Amino acid sequence: MCGIVGYIGNKNATPVLVNALKKLEYRGYDSAGIAVFNGQDILVRKVKGALKALEEKIAKETIEGSLGIGHTRWATHGEPSDINAHPHLNESGTIAVVHNGIIENFAKLKAWLQSEGVVFKSDTDTEVIAHLINYYYEYSLDIFEAVKATVNRLEGSYALGVLCKDFPDRIIAARKECPLIVGLGKDENFIASDVPAVLEYTRDVYFLDQKEIAVLYKDHVDLFDEDGNRIIKQPFHVDWDISSAEKGGYEHFMLKEIHEQPKVLTDTMRPRLVFEGGAPVDIKFDELCFDEKWKEAKRIVIVACGTAYHAGVVAKYVFEQLARVPVVVDVASEFRYRNPILCKDDIFIVISQSGETADTLAALRLAKQNGVHVTAITNCVGSTVSREADDVVYTWAGPEIAVASTKAYTTQLMCLCMLALKAAFIKETISASDYKKYLCELNSIPEKVQQILEDKASIQRFVSKNYNKQKVFFIGRQYDSATSLECALKLKEVSYMHSEAFAAGELKHGPIALIDTDTLVVATATVPELYEKLASNIIEVKSRGASTFVITQDDSGAFSSSADEIVKIPSTESFFEPMLSIIPAQLFAYYCAVHRGNNPDKPRNLAKSVTVE
Ligand code: AGP
Ligand code: GLU
Repeated sequence: MCGIVGYIGNKNATPVLVNALKKLEYRGYDSAGIAVFNGQDILVRKVKGALKALEEKIAKETIEGSLGIGHTRWATHGEPSDINAHPHLNESGTIAVVHNGIIENFAKLKAWLQSEGVVFKSDTDTEVIAHLINYYYEYSLDIFEAVKATVNRLEGSYALGVLCKDFPDRIIAARKECPLIVGLGKDENFIASDVPAVLEYTRDVYFLDQKEIAVLYKDHVDLFDEDGNRIIKQPFHVDWDISSAEKGGYEHFMLKEIHEQPKVLTDTMRPRLVFEGGAPVDIKFDELCFDEKWKEAKRIVIVACGTAYHAGVVAKYVFEQLARVPVVVDVASEFRYRNPILCKDDIFIVISQSGETADTLAALRLAKQNGVHVTAITNCVGSTVSREADDVVYTWAGPEIAVASTKAYTTQLMCLCMLALKAAFIKETISASDYKKYLCELNSIPEKVQQILEDKASIQRFVSKNYNKQKVFFIGRQYDSATSLECALKLKEVSYMHSEAFAAGELKHGPIALIDTDTLVVATATVPELYEKLASNIIEVKSRGASTFVITQDDSGAFSSSADEIVKIPSTESFFEPMLSIIPAQLFAYYCAVHRGNNPDKPRNLAKSVTVE
């Protein structure tokens, strides 16, 4: 999520910070700001919008000084606005903080600080950090100790840059989960969320590890572990070019975003889990009221487009199985023109990564005109969907740059599974003990996604033999039939191979006529009760000449005679399996695109956000 930068040296910090922030623009952001110490005070300039807006502001209200921090924000707590933009200050303006990440326990900390008399200016979780540092600083009068004590109280993720007026010779930096590097120059040092921000000035960097703290002076940098013990690290010499570094070393954003899924699934899930004795025991959606309406819900209506629609199709299976409520899922472009039946007591959900898709917005407005309460699942704070919906559940996927959606999809599934579990619990369609069991399993999903990402060899091998196939069909039953839709979309978007999804049981009713030796059939098989039926379908297509590829958690050999290649995924509850089974399909699509010489980040004819009909 977004970027932080910092500079200490002999130059004027302002242009260095703005320049470095520009190199982080690819991360996506909605506001930007800097804080510079001008020899007397810490001065802040921050605005909603693009860096250009910040540059214009700085041109009018100049600040000079050789020590500063900067930020591009991708709002998570509080809409994008001038006030919520970073840096954030303590009440007296002597401590400035930039932060990337999410402070999960911010509400508790904020309430406590408010009870101590602290007055907050913004809606951000970040402001808590500035006041907390101030709180500890008043005791220790040592900014390093104050930051150390503060980060010990933070739950969640952070990369931090901190300035203190009383210590104008240093920047304090710390990180947990969010990336942070220290750039080592001659008589100048830097912090940044990513290497490209500093490459113009230095190629020698420290990659800070979890919970490490760095204190940067003009002429040297001290590094500490979380307990304040000094540590020694070898600087890393960067020899890659800027464009690959922006992708964190990955060749494409799509691959980077596929690999970000364990982290963003955690970011989306963890703040909403309630833990007791280390185990998750409940789900809380602060943003949503699970009132009588959810308890009594007779119907759920889900409307979306493309990948988000596919998340809705999976959700139909999950809600119906767990909460026993009928679900209607519709593509927004159809919904809006077919005079849909809407009831005031429907639970109406729109899903949109961008929050700007024209058809989804039209569906949302149509529902509202009919007096229906709308809940949105979106990835973009401040987007039109987030502003117009009655309730908003955010996917904390961070900016998705690649046109083909990957991490937004799995985080949408995460939110939908959590909604379904909570609904099932309050409707008493699952027992309290099953609820807890499912929550423990849910908590392990990011780790299981990571396991899949660690072994890509069989997918790459299979792609190298099949990337030239004329037709690719994705089949499955139940949850896997829903997943197939997204698998097929991913492949067609980036590889331009003709791909379709069929419910496996439908093959015989027509599609099987298309099968020949130039066909690849990819089966997703995660529902053990249906293995046998699916294996028969795979044998049917194999005997007609198709190559076959199976994505399954099966260990019993159910597909050993029907599959040419099997990709094993970890097992979990069947309703969570779609978050795992899509991962090999995303990789499959990505590698096919690369083999065929396509740029997977910018597929032909497609736009990231479809704001027209
Ligand atoms: C996803 O890979 C696609 N590019 C597309 O189908 C997308 O999911 C669709 O346009 C909906 O976008 P939204 O989630 O931003 O509303
Ligand atoms: N959670 C913080 C906010 O909403 C930081 C978001 C970011 O990483 O930019 O302001």
